[in-house]
Amino acid sequence: MKDLLTTTDLTLEEIRGILSDAQSFSEGATWRPEKQTFVTNLFFEASTRTKCSFEVAERKLGLDVIPFEVSTSSVLKGETLYDTVRTLEAIGVNAVVIRHNQDRYFEELVGKINIPVLNAGDGCGHHPTQSLLDLLTIQQEFGQFVGLKVAIIGDIRHSRVARSNADALQRLGAEVVFSGPEGWFDETLLQNGRYEDVDTAIETSDVVMLLRIQHERHEQNGANLVDEYHQAYGLTVEREQRMKRDSIIMHPAPVNRNVEIADSLVECERSRIFKQMENGVYVRMAVLKRSLEGSFTNVNHHQKWSLAHK
Ligand code: CP
Repeated sequence: MKDLLTTTDLTLEEIRGILSDAQSFSEGATWRPEKQTFVTNLFFEASTRTKCSFEVAERKLGLDVIPFEVSTSSVLKGETLYDTVRTLEAIGVNAVVIRHNQDRYFEELVGKINIPVLNAGDGCGHHPTQSLLDLLTIQQEFGQFVGLKVAIIGDIRHSRVARSNADALQRLGAEVVFSGPEGWFDETLLQNGRYEDVDTAIETSDVVMLLRIQHERHEQNGANLVDEYHQAYGLTVEREQRMKRDSIIMHPAPVNRNVEIADSLVECERSRIFKQMENGVYVRMAVLKRSLEGSFTNVNHHQKWSLAHK
């Protein structure tokens, strides 16, 4: 693996390998490239978790992080994404992490850029590292995916998290159901699961995965809907009491408290929301390791890497 663009591109073997490495990192394993390695994070869209956890992961791996802020870069002079990344490659950056508001922005880079491209979220398209950290969290909880029912609830249409997770979870053997406002359904996801009413989904699932309302991707202001959303589709205190005994709550965050989930449930016993964030560092360490290994293997640098345990 060199690039990480979508979960769909990953084989099940690659997914399992990444989760295994991420689990090892969570237990204290270490890995270091044998020569100085530069990485740049290009965030054309806002981020707290993904940007900061990529940077923590990079520093834990001993990578040199080259600062890049769109607002002070030559993007403001009209430089294209391709020219920006090609420039970084030319000056010696070894990998780039990119978040962009355009779906499949990476298509203008693939085949033209030789350094690894790691997708940190493309528009409504994909968010592979979020999906992988969600998978790690579920695997840690249940040990396997076969036989699990996962409900993905909320703003499905605008969610790159829903798209990445639905594909990976279904291929790993989980049953996926979607729920939320009908206007936010996405028929293309029916290949990965079926729609179910929100109460049935919450009461019968092992994992209740809530999605943020993506106001920034809505054509109309959803302010009126927000008032009604919590009662109609949100995880209320009353609905949480009807969840299966050992089921868990997940949310990629940021959370709209008292909209997708009641404020008091964000850190309740079943919630794995902050565990997901912690796992994000380990998953990003794992994908950076694989991408750099793949990249150096491709250009025949003959470097030897090993995952050392404490
Ligand atoms: N979950 C997630 O992608 O959060 P950020 O937008 O803060 O990176």
